[in-house]
Amino acid sequence: MSPIPKTAPFAEDEIDILNRVVGTASPIQRAWLAGFLAGVDASGGLLAPQPLAPVRPAEPLTIVYASESGNSEKLAGDIAKAARKSGLKPTIIDMADLELPTLTSAKRLVVIAATWGEGEPPARAVRTYNELMGENAPRLDGVEFGVLALGDTAYAEFCAIGKKIDERLAALGGKRVVDRVDCDLDFAEPAARWIGDAVKVLTPPNASGRVIEVDFGAKPASAPGTDIVEAEIIEHVDLNSSRSDKETIHVALAFEGGALAYEPGDSLDLYAENDPAYVDELLKSAGLAGDDKLRSDFIKTRDVTTLSAKTVETYAEKTGHQYVKALIADGQVKEWIAGRQLIDLIATFPIALDAETLRALTRPLAPRAYSIASSRREVGDEAHLLISAVRYESHGRARKGVASNYVAERLKRGGRVRVKVKPNRHFSLPAPDKDIIMVGPGTGVAPFRAFVQERRATEATGKSWLFFGDRTFTHDFLYQVDWQEALNDGALTRMDVALSRDTPEKVYVQHKIWDRRAELVEWLDKGAYFYVCGDAKAMAKDVRVALVRAYADVKSLSPEAAEQAVATLEREKRYLQDTY
Ligand SMILES: Cc1cc2nc3c(=O)[nH]c(=O)nc-3n(C[C@H](O)[C@H](O)[C@H](O)COP(=O)(O)OP(=O)(O)OC[C@H]3O[C@@H](n4cnc5c(N)ncnc54)[C@H](O)[C@@H]3O)c2cc1C
Ligand SMILES: Cc1cc2nc3c(=O)[nH]c(=O)nc-3n(C[C@H](O)[C@H](O)[C@H](O)COP(=O)(O)O)c2cc1C
Repeated sequence: MSPIPKTAPFAEDEIDILNRVVGTASPIQRAWLAGFLAGVDASGGLLAPQPLAPVRPAEPLTIVYASESGNSEKLAGDIAKAARKSGLKPTIIDMADLELPTLTSAKRLVVIAATWGEGEPPARAVRTYNELMGENAPRLDGVEFGVLALGDTAYAEFCAIGKKIDERLAALGGKRVVDRVDCDLDFAEPAARWIGDAVKVLTPPNASGRVIEVDFGAKPASAPGTDIVEAEIIEHVDLNSSRSDKETIHVALAFEGGALAYEPGDSLDLYAENDPAYVDELLKSAGLAGDDKLRSDFIKTRDVTTLSAKTVETYAEKTGHQYVKALIADGQVKEWIAGRQLIDLIATFPIALDAETLRALTRPLAPRAYSIASSRREVGDEAHLLISAVRYESHGRARKGVASNYVAERLKRGGRVRVKVKPNRHFSLPAPDKDIIMVGPGTGVAPFRAFVQERRATEATGKSWLFFGDRTFTHDFLYQVDWQEALNDGALTRMDVALSRDTPEKVYVQHKIWDRRAELVEWLDKGAYFYVCGDAKAMAKDVRVALVRAYADVKSLSPEAAEQAVATLEREKRYLQDTY
């Protein structure tokens, strides 16, 4: 809604208050207010409220979020809403855009931080995070703060970034007024509780009563297309040859009643089921074979593979198993669980379990995200995914990733699967006349198929350059025909392919970036956008290092100046990552 104009017959601070309340109100709330005021006038002012107490300007609240897949960002919005209701004036800042000195004047600060990689900050937040941890970070004496940490207990470094930020803010002189809460993947409830507590603590006593009571309780309907929907699988094709040691499935999904509202760069959350053979083995080890209700529940709704330190503690607590207790007492848990799953715990330290205890060792089965590999402008009511089957061996046992093998082994053409759009406005295409450089080895190439389709459909005039990599030309060249067509019709301007196992020396995308450094830097100097998608552990870091080196070499810059050149691209949001 457009703001109340300065010419309205109110004092300036009253206009400010009206804008805060009416500006964010829903259409229903505004309609109610209009009707209410009309009623007051019609009754000759009988319902007129008592004169308001003198108005004080709302107290500010700074909300910083460090997010990769949007959970922390969404919670930042939730806090802002609750804070506004409580009479505070919230400002939300993406950590990627945060200039640390501005925090020194923040009276109240809330940080919501996710942990990524192996205990690392979300990619966009790296610069600010490093500055915060660095020796030049400003003092934050007296700033009242609280931290909400998001993470996944499956990772050894659970909520590491939230923990470190919480410690650092205190070390810089901040005053922790709300204790940190570390949330697992099922964060909705604990996060909502923390938000309620935090807003209560951070709201000064004089703020309440000044706020016009409006019921914000009713949840707004979720944005169209972001609900869970069931899709039909209309294509299910292994893009690797039968002689490849990989299996990467192209899945085309069709939706009844129209396509999902997705944009290039978005992902789909896919709701998988567990491998029945694994669940059977787990139930057998626990002495619960034959419990069909439990079996069905475990296959469909519980995370039965993850083994976290918390699981081990719960196991010791519930069973009193002395060897597990000893493992904990010896400080061996972190080491022991690495590469192991729940089945290992129960098989190694067997004890008869009841259904309730086994259930307490699991958490809800979380969906897995997959980049959408299509543009609606080209595929209409469909969405395409590219899913690599995760298979490996550890501690003498063959392991299979839950969702990727659900798709690869148990979903077939004609089958159905539940999905939900996971928007990513931080990984979207620029204006059609801008040039784009896309680095996407393996399944990292998926969103770039969407980008190229979109650019073809919109007749974009900007040039596009794809760096793709995989193992071999013959067996692993994902979407090879698509790229050839795109190069022919101009949707793709150029392509470099790194095939790591076709030559005696391994070649990866970062080597191709180095080879093409002169042209690459020229494209970037002319305003091109640089996108990286795929492996976060090694590839994304190696690519960034290669780009810094490329700048240093092409422009004869010192390593520091070259680093600054790439950091500038990041600040300008021309270096964009979607890595996992
Ligand atoms: C935004 C986003 C987009 C994504 N897009 C895609 C995509 O387009 N295509 C795609 O295929 N994937 C994509 N992923 C990854 C995907 O979400 C899943 O993480 C992946 O498919 C594995 O899920 P899973 O359920 O099969 O495996 P899980 O059951 O979750 O098992 C994976 C876990 O197994 C362990 N593990 C895996 N390999 C090994 C090993 N070699 N040694 C020891 N332990 C190991 C690790 O702990 C790992 O976390 C994306 C992820 C994100 C966050
Ligand atoms: C590839 C990947 C790596 C992750 N690494 C960690 C980790 O090391 N520690 C942790 O606690 N959580 C980890 N997580 C879990 C995320 O922190 C969690 O999903 C969080 O809700 C994401 O919040 P965001 O959407 O704001 O980025 C990881 C998730 C993914 C997909």
